[in-house]
Amino acid sequence: MLLPIYIYGHPTLGKPAIDLQPDMKNLQELLVDMWETMYQADGVGLAAPQIGLNIRLFVVDATVFAPKDPSCEGFKRVFINARVVERSTEEIVMPEGCLSVPGIHEEVSRPCRVVITYRDETWRERVEELDGMRARVVQHEYDHIEGRTFIDRLSPLKRRILRKRLSSISAGLFDKAYRVILPGSKSSASRRPAP
Ligand code: NI
Repeated sequence: MLLPIYIYGHPTLGKPAIDLQPDMKNLQELLVDMWETMYQADGVGLAAPQIGLNIRLFVVDATVFAPKDPSCEGFKRVFINARVVERSTEEIVMPEGCLSVPGIHEEVSRPCRVVITYRDETWRERVEELDGMRARVVQHEYDHIEGRTFIDRLSPLKRRILRKRLSSISAGLFDKAYRVILPGSKSSASRRPAP
């Protein structure tokens, strides 16, 4: 099932998410929906807060970057209860976009390399050291479960320049390539008209 994506300015995107419990019901169904929603929207990652769920869950498929960064080949992962436990002091600037901030692409500086611990979809504990595009995509999604978007990583000047465009996005003034939930809307009301 395709899920609507929450748009910049929605309070759900600004809240740190909480851990999933091992007995969480419907996790596998939720993952099927998240993959479907991410691929349909041409995303390389999708975090639970972007679909209105305040839980530490995100999915990533960076294989589209494999021609430029071979380490992205087959890099398709489910991250449950992830924690970044190490970050390189060295940073690199790369352009980023976000399904919750449609139409805006900006240069963002982030650590080149991170070590992340998490559980996969079978609840197995994993530790990975990531660099290149994998580190980039994972850090972007990790921000979402910490209640941040890449806009929060921009300089105050850059944010000021983007202010009007960001308000337009929050107001829903953009080409909608997928179903969305705007900041002011009630999720159930926007899915189907009231009786
Ligand atoms: Ni994003």
